[in-house]
Amino acid sequence: MADTLGMAAQIASNALRFSWYSGINWLMSREAQRLGPRPRYRPERPVPSEAELMADLRALFLADASAVRDGLYPPAEPAGSLGRHMRDLRAMFADLPATVERRTQADTASAAAAADANGLETLFYGAAGPMRRAGLKPIAAFMRGKDQRDVALLDVACGTGRFLREVRLAYPALRAKGLDLSQAYLDEARRHLQGLRPVELVCANAEQIPFPDASQDIVTAIFLYHELPGDVRRRVTAEIARVLKPGGLFVLIDSLQMGDRPGWDGLLEAFPVRFHEPYFAHYATDDLDAMLSEAGLEPQETSQAFLSKVMVAPKRGAN
Ligand SMILES: C[S@@+](CC[C@H](N)C(=O)[O-])C[C@H]1O[C@@H](n2cnc3c(N)ncnc32)[C@H](O)[C@@H]1O
Repeated sequence: MADTLGMAAQIASNALRFSWYSGINWLMSREAQRLGPRPRYRPERPVPSEAELMADLRALFLADASAVRDGLYPPAEPAGSLGRHMRDLRAMFADLPATVERRTQADTASAAAAADANGLETLFYGAAGPMRRAGLKPIAAFMRGKDQRDVALLDVACGTGRFLREVRLAYPALRAKGLDLSQAYLDEARRHLQGLRPVELVCANAEQIPFPDASQDIVTAIFLYHELPGDVRRRVTAEIARVLKPGGLFVLIDSLQMGDRPGWDGLLEAFPVRFHEPYFAHYATDDLDAMLSEAGLEPQETSQAFLSKVMVAPKRGAN
């Protein structure tokens, strides 16, 4: 039965998150500008108008709510206490001088560590959740007719566990695991996953995934690929293909690439200049379809979700 109430609740929840994170975005940029003015960068390529961006954001929120209505995944959880949000907000502002310092010194390691879940949410106006949840749609199609208890899912570069929590809420009995290079992020992931059925969290490099060949039914990698140099991107993809069972599903979510939406290319041009992302420009023009195919995966469909895209590529061979 269509869950119309769930759909309405999802729209309300996304609207609330949008207002909250837009406010923080505005305050943070004002404060960052005061601490260390940013040089103006005018991209040569076209950029969308604010109205176009907001229309696309609304379309993302509507698609998210429609997926809830259609039963593809459960509604988002309540926003949590105002006290916790205020604590997170204070922590973000306390870290801002260090962030500005890192921006000017281009210190990659600590800048990456600082790009925590709240930072991502703020950057995307609260849309990081719906963009990640877009990855649950191909998983729902893959799961049809399967017993969750027989399905193993690995979230590569799970970070602070935001996607794993969504997976757990949708599939409580799935054999879910997360892997990340950063123990600090995994500690936060453990905290974030509290109260749900345990998820195995492993600290490891995705270039050498510590799981046997053909051991996973589903592998996901979300907002990882743009952070990797081209050769590492290929090694990680080869590892993902190795641990997937034939017919197993790879779901890749990351930024749009150049040409995906030609009128938006200027945003992709400006991003690595405004935020220190040394491999983003390479990522933005990398031939991901060819890379996936070379690794033995079969790119099937790509859909766009606001500033991100979702690529679905099963491993070649029988299921
Ligand atoms: C932008 S965060 C995205 C995290 C998470 N997937 C999400 O959606 O929030 C990128 C993550 O990739 C992890 N990472 C980067 N290189 C890695 C590698 N070689 N192996 C495993 N994790 C890696 C970082 O520690 C970080 O948690």
